[in-house]
Amino acid sequence: MMATQGVAPMEGRDEKAPKGWLDKCKYALLKLVVVMIYVVSHLYDYAFYPVYFFYYHPWRVRRYQKSTHARREDLEREAVIFHSLTEPTQVNQEMLDHGLQTMEQVFNHISKKYGSQDCLGTRQILGEEEEPQPNGKTFVKYVLGRYEWRSFNQVEEEVRRVADGLRAQGLHHGTRVAILCETRAEWMIMANACFQNNATVVTLYTNLGNDGVIHAINETEAAAVVCSQDTVSKIQEILPKCPHLQTVILMKALAPKSMHNVKLGACKVVRYHELVQGVPSDHVPPRKPPQANDCAIIMYTSGSTGNPKGVMLSHKNLLSSMTALINIAQFRPGDRYIAYLPLAHVLELLAETSCLMYGIKIGYSSAATLTNKSTKVKAGCKGDANVLRPTLMCSVPMVLERIYKSIVDTMKRQGWAAEELFEYLMQYKMKWEDRGFDTPLLNKTLFRKIRYFLGGRVRLMLSGGAPLSSDTHNLTRTCICVPLMQGYGLTETTACATVTNPKDRTTGRVGAPLMGIKIKLVNWDEGNYLISDEPHPRGEIHVGGDNVALGYFKMEEKTNEDFYEKNGVRWFKTGDIGEVHADGVLKIIDRKKDLIKLQHGEYVSYGKVESVLKTCPIVENICLVGDSSKDYVIAVVLPDKTKLNSITPKSLPECVQDEKVLAQILKEIQTFGKSNDLNKVELPAKIVLAQDEWTPESGMVTAAFKIRRRQITQKYEKEISKIYK
Ligand SMILES: *[C@@H]1O[C@H](CO)[C@@H](O)[C@H](O)[C@H]1NC(C)=O
Ligand SMILES: *[C@@H]1O[C@H](CO)[C@@H](O)[C@H](O)[C@H]1NC(C)=O
Ligand SMILES: *[C@@H]1O[C@H](CO)[C@@H](O)[C@H](O)[C@H]1NC(C)=O
Ligand SMILES: *[C@@H]1O[C@H](CO)[C@@H](O)[C@H](O)[C@H]1NC(C)=O
Ligand SMILES: *[C@@H]1O[C@H](CO)[C@@H](O)[C@H](O)[C@H]1NC(C)=O
Repeated sequence: MMATQGVAPMEGRDEKAPKGWLDKCKYALLKLVVVMIYVVSHLYDYAFYPVYFFYYHPWRVRRYQKSTHARREDLEREAVIFHSLTEPTQVNQEMLDHGLQTMEQVFNHISKKYGSQDCLGTRQILGEEEEPQPNGKTFVKYVLGRYEWRSFNQVEEEVRRVADGLRAQGLHHGTRVAILCETRAEWMIMANACFQNNATVVTLYTNLGNDGVIHAINETEAAAVVCSQDTVSKIQEILPKCPHLQTVILMKALAPKSMHNVKLGACKVVRYHELVQGVPSDHVPPRKPPQANDCAIIMYTSGSTGNPKGVMLSHKNLLSSMTALINIAQFRPGDRYIAYLPLAHVLELLAETSCLMYGIKIGYSSAATLTNKSTKVKAGCKGDANVLRPTLMCSVPMVLERIYKSIVDTMKRQGWAAEELFEYLMQYKMKWEDRGFDTPLLNKTLFRKIRYFLGGRVRLMLSGGAPLSSDTHNLTRTCICVPLMQGYGLTETTACATVTNPKDRTTGRVGAPLMGIKIKLVNWDEGNYLISDEPHPRGEIHVGGDNVALGYFKMEEKTNEDFYEKNGVRWFKTGDIGEVHADGVLKIIDRKKDLIKLQHGEYVSYGKVESVLKTCPIVENICLVGDSSKDYVIAVVLPDKTKLNSITPKSLPECVQDEKVLAQILKEIQTFGKSNDLNKVELPAKIVLAQDEWTPESGMVTAAFKIRRRQITQKYEKEISKIYK
């Protein structure tokens, strides 16, 4: 519901307490204050409950919680399908009415519709300064100015000129253009220029390793690569190994730097600003726009093992996902979107295009300049979020985790009383929000400052890319005062599958299927996940719909393995295991492959790590356990008894509880792993000691003595969750 009026005068209470008082006395006093606030808040609740009740209509939230969000269909014996229940919105209808089928048509439509409105904004970088740090190093920091906006008309003009320029360079329909560049307005313009020409965009993450970049450029035979002054050095390194590359299109750095003459071997260097200046029109071959089924993007995903795979996405795929995103987004006029995630990820590209569909302006930013405290922002300078004051943003768990840590740290530093009060008021706010009430006073007092961290106006946030832990989800949505939606999707399904509703207060779930997208659960017998499971059907998730990709580039076998068509619907086998709750909301519970993606996106292959660590002398047998919402793995270790005896005289059951022995064993395992080329995330950060033998009879290993992870995890569930908590 709300904050107690008692809060404001209490701020900064401990620091003001006179020094030299007896600690006991201070403790008692603070305790009294805390208790008083509890009492006041309770009194306030009773007094104002009826007012709030009629003001916030909490029954609507309860009605939402009781409703179902997907229709279940049992057509097959081995599988169950869930359909979306949402209806097309006005903007969905608009897309249909205008027959928009390609990104090119979308772009032409919106630039006509919104004409002179602001479209893309770039923040000026006025200069660079070297700032000495306390540790003696100096960091380069930016002096930042205001946002400068291009209108829809200007963007359209620029796209047209760049498209003409590309064609004049021979980059017309059927060619492939790779983009290796940070997120910025010109990225978007370049991609749209390629779409205009029916050229395929090959997207590469700027942090993809050289081998990955070479592989992608070689495989797609890209004729041109677009880069900026900041990424051109990478192109220089890989150039000798990419014989197909003919043209390098070079953008200026955002910071005012002089551009030296770049030598790129036999490659022709074309400056982006020359393209924008235009070419004489008689040199330009005619434009051939793409059609719905033409390949718009080949996205290289940072693969876990081996070479990255190129996922081919057609215009139809992109439009289908965009339709789904637009359907859930409750955009309003006057909204602003802050773009800082890599545009090489299709979700960011779609989110931005969806915003433009509504005429919402996009301000570009980067992780290094997002907030006041970001690494490249000069002290005293405002971060991008504080200048732009966005209302919409996308996020990834890693960013939220950072916010989470900084909030928790700040609170810890304030002393126990502040910490306890903060905890109390957070629980208080969560409690009332669960019941369907709002807490305007708390939003405006205690959480105001945290909210201002991101500009203070964010009203909708979407998190995707990796699972979000329940704790982070609760704390960030409560403190930043924003409904935080969690999405699930893969590049192969054009980033979309399910998204949670802003009204959904639960955590750990990923939402109901989006409009036009089907979710199928299929029995996975080996893993013992069945659609007949109680209380919820479980199984491997297959995603179906127009958003499912054309396939992997030049990997026909793999494409046929993972994609299939049935009754006119294209499906992708995700390899994730999920369960669908009674209200039609999906929860991801496991992964089919023996591979875990940790919180920050690194993969750990259980099999590989176990096979190495099993050879460690102290280890008799070992089973790795991971949680994708955490950034480390735990090992359940069955120790070698004789080796254990040489470390400690204690018996095994005693050792299980003994922190010292555990630490010693862990250290030994880590040292061993390191010397055998395991990297940091692969090394277990904690261990659980197993007491009893793992035998086929006890169900812990198979007849061939392979470990059975699920059984082991279940058996030691208590110890594992204690560590992860
Ligand atoms: C667009 O380019 C592709 C090759 O990438 C080609 O197969 C297709 O026919 C082109 N579409 C049109 C409408 O020309
Ligand atoms: C790329 O292709 C060229 C020749 O086609 C070859 O020499 C080079 O080794 C290839 N590089 C990779 C990483 O495949
Ligand atoms: C960020 O810095 C600006 C300028 O120094 C200041 O006005 C603003 O309050 C700061 N915001 C936060 C959240 O600290
Ligand atoms: C997060 O909040 C939800 C709803 O308020 C609650 O059910 C859940 O237990 C919370 N999770 C944690 C880890 O506190
Ligand atoms: C307060 O914060 C919650 C999210 O924590 C949000 O849903 C609500 O709209 C905010 N209320 C106001 C008045 O800002």
